[in-house]
Amino acid sequence: MTRTRPALPMILAAWTLMAGAAGAQEAPAAKDNITAARHENGRYYTADDVPTFNIAKDGTVDWMTYSGFRRYHSECHVCHGPEGEGSSYAPALKKSAITMDYYDFVEVVTNGRKKVNVAENSVMPAFGQNANVMCYLDDIYTYLKARGADALPRGRPGKKEPKSDAIRDTESDCLGH
Ligand code: HEC
Repeated sequence: MTRTRPALPMILAAWTLMAGAAGAQEAPAAKDNITAARHENGRYYTADDVPTFNIAKDGTVDWMTYSGFRRYHSECHVCHGPEGEGSSYAPALKKSAITMDYYDFVEVVTNGRKKVNVAENSVMPAFGQNANVMCYLDDIYTYLKARGADALPRGRPGKKEPKSDAIRDTESDCLGH
């Protein structure tokens, strides 16, 4: 009995070390707001279940990124500049998609934001009632994130993944077709 006693603290110490090492390896992955950790029916998500892009080695982009390129350029680029680069009037959204929390991003697009005072007159319109924006918000966000992460060059993406049935169904439900 007495001979086994000193071994227990040793084992505990070893466990603590192992747990510490494992924790240290997992921490960066959990905080990463960019890397796709899982995918579901053509959509990609981070470890925190936030939408993200996926670009294959041969340059094939996921459907959401491709769709987001088109939607961004029809609804947002007049103010925010082509390719999410920003303009003298509105911020570079390719940066915002990386630095802003996803839910804050959604909130600003839904409800808008204003900075109107003597020095500034900066108005982000509310798009909450606009189905052409709200039904494609994850697409737009995903595209901007790919741009901000420098994973996607300027210009229309070439090769793309097919549009999944799930994405098609969600889209027609959202548009009320
Ligand atoms: C009429 C011009 C205009 C259009 C169109 C527009 N925005 Fe904006 N947006 C702005 C301005 C101006 C700001 C800065 C508002 C402020 O200073 O609070 C802004 C801010 C934002 C922000 C906050 C960025 C940050 O870093 O704080 C997000 C996110 C955003 N816009 C998303 C979008 C998306 C997505 C679209 C397209 C669906 C869009 N905007 C279309 C003018 C516009």
